[in-house]
Amino acid sequence: MNNKKVILKKIEEVVDSSRDKTLGELQAIKHIGIDEENSTVVLLIEVGKKMNEVTSVITRAIAKVVKIEYGYQSLVIDYEQARPENFAKKAKIIAIASGKGGVGKSSVTANLAYAFKALGKKVGIIDADIYGANMPKILEIEKLELNGTESGKVYPYQIDGIEMVSTEFFVEENKALMWRGPMLGKVLKIFFEDTIWSQDLDFLLIDLPPGTGDVMMDVNNFVPDAKIVLVTTPHPSASHIAIKAGFATKDLKQDVIGVIENMSFYEVGEEKHHIFGEGGGALVADKLLVPLLSQIPIGQPTGAKKSIYQETEYIGIMYLNLARKLMRLV
Ligand SMILES: Nc1ncnc2c1ncn2[C@@H]1O[C@H](COP(=O)(O)OP(=O)(O)OP(=O)(O)O)[C@@H](O)[C@H]1O
Ligand SMILES: [Mg+2]
Repeated sequence: MNNKKVILKKIEEVVDSSRDKTLGELQAIKHIGIDEENSTVVLLIEVGKKMNEVTSVITRAIAKVVKIEYGYQSLVIDYEQARPENFAKKAKIIAIASGKGGVGKSSVTANLAYAFKALGKKVGIIDADIYGANMPKILEIEKLELNGTESGKVYPYQIDGIEMVSTEFFVEENKALMWRGPMLGKVLKIFFEDTIWSQDLDFLLIDLPPGTGDVMMDVNNFVPDAKIVLVTTPHPSASHIAIKAGFATKDLKQDVIGVIENMSFYEVGEEKHHIFGEGGGALVADKLLVPLLSQIPIGQPTGAKKSIYQETEYIGIMYLNLARKLMRLV
């Protein structure tokens, strides 16, 4: 056997303490390369939690093999966090954030879901708005009930072929819940680890609560590869906080991929009325060095669902274009 095979075999015995299994069992070694000339071993490894407690133990165990037993001079390991075990493996995750409340995150999330679906994609939604979860209302779901398994897993709600979970399912009707930190963690754990998502989901959209980052931080622990889209109105009061939220997520090393300006204008005939001012979306995009993806006007949907624009109406077509842009970006 050559060195690569023997070393790989030994490394496969190292345990990922965040999943209590060996790297071999987890098929966690995504790449191994040996550069004999420069006496270097390069590895790409997937871990359950990309935390120092976990990776430092693995690095030490591997260094023992690579450097001490086999005498290589340097070892380079890149760690990636694996998706939670039951989580949709291939789904691209897009989190919709805003900073300021009421700018249209939830309606953007829901309409994007329908747009992706219209483009033939399979979509899921996580309504992670803890205090003001209203995705069931927007999607016009009447009975707030999820099916579960005996082992405590839940199936997402299915509506029009879209899968959805919401904090709303875990709150008694008409009762606002005082979420405390640990409860929030628990409910996010249900969404990311205990929900039986379809494995062939293409996109998973997360409707975040307003704010500049605490829930984002929790989401980041589960799916650090989520991409962020910021929603703002044209008004400085919204763009100002959106910029803050954008920088906060950048601090978490998360990718902000673009900005959506909602309620951009109101059109009467050919004339555009800038009811909420102008320029907020462009400002956020400029500050964060990302594209302004869309400027969605104020308008009432005309279809059966009060908050969902139809594919044939003007704003519905804008959502289709936005979804196409996002497909290229993620
Ligand atoms: N482009 C639009 N045209 C007309 N009404 C809109 C538009 N976008 C959003 N709305 C309406 O504005 C209100 C707020 O939107 P939405 O609930 O989506 O905002 P949000 O950012 O999710 O709010 P929250 O911070 O409370 O979660 C809703 O009544 C929604 O129907
Ligand atoms: Mg909302």
